[in-house]
Amino acid sequence: MGFLQTDSATAAKNYSVRCISCGEVQAALAVDFRCMNCGDLLEVEFANWSAGSAPDPVKLKSLWRERRTSNQSLDASGVWRFRDVLPELDDWSCAITLREGNTPVYELPRCARSAGVDRLKAKHQGMNPTGSFKDTGMTVAISFARQNKFRWVACASTGNTSASMAAYAARGGMRSLVVIPDGKIAWGKLSQSLDYGALTCQLRTDFDGCVRVLDEIIRRYPIYLLNSVNPYRLEGQKTAAIELLEQLDWQVPDHIIIPGGNLGNNSALGKAFLEMKRLGVVQSLSKISVIQAEGANPLYRTVHEKFGKELVTVEAETLATAIRIGNPASWKKSLRVIEATEGCVEQVTEAEIAVAKAEIGADGVGCEPASAVTLAGLKKLVKSGFVRHSDSVVLVLTGHVLKDPEYTIKFHRGDLSVPRMEDDAFRAMTAQQRKAPIVLDANADAVLRALEAEDTRDG
Ligand code: F0G
Repeated sequence: MGFLQTDSATAAKNYSVRCISCGEVQAALAVDFRCMNCGDLLEVEFANWSAGSAPDPVKLKSLWRERRTSNQSLDASGVWRFRDVLPELDDWSCAITLREGNTPVYELPRCARSAGVDRLKAKHQGMNPTGSFKDTGMTVAISFARQNKFRWVACASTGNTSASMAAYAARGGMRSLVVIPDGKIAWGKLSQSLDYGALTCQLRTDFDGCVRVLDEIIRRYPIYLLNSVNPYRLEGQKTAAIELLEQLDWQVPDHIIIPGGNLGNNSALGKAFLEMKRLGVVQSLSKISVIQAEGANPLYRTVHEKFGKELVTVEAETLATAIRIGNPASWKKSLRVIEATEGCVEQVTEAEIAVAKAEIGADGVGCEPASAVTLAGLKKLVKSGFVRHSDSVVLVLTGHVLKDPEYTIKFHRGDLSVPRMEDDAFRAMTAQQRKAPIVLDANADAVLRALEAEDTRDG
């Protein structure tokens, strides 16, 4: 089947690649990163950790801290700094890095009040070099593409993976093919792909349709697939959880709340927690919960209608275009993490997402719509009692506020039409959060009148 990659996971390396279903260790990797035996997804496994050569947790923690003071490029990356628990490259000079990771953890005091928890933090993955969490996984997977001497890399995307891939390919002197749904991409993301010089194809279909087309392309052309079925992507993304734990001085939060689209990210962060516990870096696990938009809720339905036994696919529709996905690849990995950490799956409406996004903005942080499902979901989880008021909670904000300025401007102007709700009702519901720009004559009196009116309005 197609072209096989040369980087067979051999015993000489610090890791192997195995199937999540049948457990078969792969002698070589197929172009689609599916198991050669049963066709399911693959994962990286550090078998030698069980064989008595596990890294020492105390040494790891001090090494990781020490590297933060180093200017060497691999140490300065918030991903490669953790290379002791990543699959190793044969040649470290293959690593393509933009100093990804190293993202901040912010307190969200207003959002905490609105959600009904005492304290709330956000790990802002939108503060990565291309403005989303994708960079952490991209640096690892594309470095393996380069090691394998690929000239072309490709992904199907809702916009952020493609922006990230295009940037890293350009940095590494490689060519990139972006396959995205026509018309359902936020402007910031599309503009990035163009700026970084990718061959950008907007297909007349949705994300799931793009995945199907790309699946055929990789069988007909020597091109390296960088979607999150590529297990190296998840290895890089996993470091965000390790970095978070380090930033919290290894105090494990009660809850981590993550948006769910293709379901790679929560699988990656969960893998990190499970591995850190296995190594003794931490002693307990956070409950990892996934939030989906109501109009793009395959995992929610899979859990509630099929008890997680088989995937319910949906025709996805949401203004949070990053997570407009109906047939998520990593649903099994995701469920495994949710089950192992005793988390849950929740869904939120478009109106709830819009309000939550404005609230995160009002805390001086901001994020793109898909990231805001976390706060909207948290509110529901507090109401249902799954999250207690005194619990420590971290929201994973996945994308930068500037990714989708059109959504934000429409919202504040009162022009956003959300599916399944009357415009007037939505405008009334969001009156408190909206701050429309005011067009005035160019004189101080007019501006001062606006200022005074605002001062009274805010009490
Ligand atoms: N948040 C943002 C901002 C995203 O871009 C994505 C996924 C997700 C959340 C969901 O993460 O897929 O790992 O469950 N974006 C992909 C893309 C699909 O192509 O950029 P997931």
